[in-house]
Amino acid sequence: MKSGLLSLGIFLLCAIQAQANVPVQPNFEEEKFVGTWYSVGMASNSKWFEQKKEHLKMCTTVITPTADGHLNVTSTFSRDGQKKEKTKILFKTEQPGRYRSTSSRWGSEYDIRVVETNYDEYALTYKRKSKGTEVFTMVVLYGRTKILKPELQEKFHQFSLEQGLAESGILILPLTD
Ligand SMILES: *[C@@H]1O[C@H](CO)[C@@H](O)[C@H](O)[C@H]1NC(C)=O
Repeated sequence: MKSGLLSLGIFLLCAIQAQANVPVQPNFEEEKFVGTWYSVGMASNSKWFEQKKEHLKMCTTVITPTADGHLNVTSTFSRDGQKKEKTKILFKTEQPGRYRSTSSRWGSEYDIRVVETNYDEYALTYKRKSKGTEVFTMVVLYGRTKILKPELQEKFHQFSLEQGLAESGILILPLTD
């Protein structure tokens, strides 16, 4: 019993540690991060992703600063042959490269980090979504171009596995026309 509790404690500690250890791009420069990105890869363990993953395609995401200094992230995708737009506002935190967001519709909170980027080629991002006691992870690999070098795809793959995501939940998204 005691050792059971002890290992639960250690497990919880590790789970908290793992999340705290998700890095953020050092010396993050937001003014270089804005602009157009393509979602090249996506990995998640959320129910939404599980249901949709067969049908997901690459989309275009435009990031612009808002008037009050936060980030406007607008993605364009097509559904049933129609173009749709989805906007999310990411609020700055005291750590550059780390943002928070909420969804009143779903009652969720998001912790979003730009894990690694060189600004003109790729950006690896991490999103932790919590809704009550449920926690989901999403990793997105963005590219300035629609196709990224195999090394970058591999970096995304490896990082996703390190976040505890299953192989079957790690996708390189099909191109849209
Ligand atoms: C976010 O950007 C989109 C596309 O540029 C724009 O249509 C929308 O009004 C912006 N929303 C906010 C809240 O800034």
